[in-house]
Amino acid sequence: MNIAVFASGKGTNLQAIIDAVSRGEIKAVISLVIGDRSNAKALDRAKKAGIKAVYINPRDFSSREEFDKKAISYLEKNNVGLVVLAGFMRLLSPYFVKKYRNRIMNIHPSLLPAFKGTSGIKDAWEYGMKITGVTVHFINEDLDAGPIILQKPVMIEETDTLESLEEKIHRTEHQIYPEAINLFIEGRLEVKGRRVKIRE
Ligand code: GRF
Repeated sequence: MNIAVFASGKGTNLQAIIDAVSRGEIKAVISLVIGDRSNAKALDRAKKAGIKAVYINPRDFSSREEFDKKAISYLEKNNVGLVVLAGFMRLLSPYFVKKYRNRIMNIHPSLLPAFKGTSGIKDAWEYGMKITGVTVHFINEDLDAGPIILQKPVMIEETDTLESLEEKIHRTEHQIYPEAINLFIEGRLEVKGRRVKIRE
């Protein structure tokens, strides 16, 4: 199966996915990486790995849907079966979500539905949580609210700082995102309403 990764930033999750593919832990091909920021380090990581890196400038489009249609044209050209959002900072249009229902995954750095939004790690830290974690979920029309595929808790210890917590969260992300992607590739995810069943 061909997959596409969408990213806006550093791309450490993208890197974890690239590495898992090259180790044979994800049996898929990363056909392309799409970025919405020209300076995204993720695009450099893609090029370095020999993967097609496409920058789509949001300013070239009059609406979210027009941007998404451009992205979809790349997905169709490359016969992409799964879209993986890895630090992609743009909301997708309902048009895109509907067209790729249960074929778009996202990773979020908290145990959803707690701490939605763009600063999940810091928000959990400032709230004084003792446990937070990471969620991989399918995308639906609402922000950080689609059916949950995998979650993994991360303990916040007395000795932690925000920085050490960030490190722990990212390490956990890099472990469970490839796992979730591979479950999809193996056809083991079954979505029933909000519940995602993992088949043996
Ligand atoms: C990750 O923390 C992810 O959970 C969130 O955005 C961050 C992306 O980091 N959605 P990176 O670009 O993969 O390093």
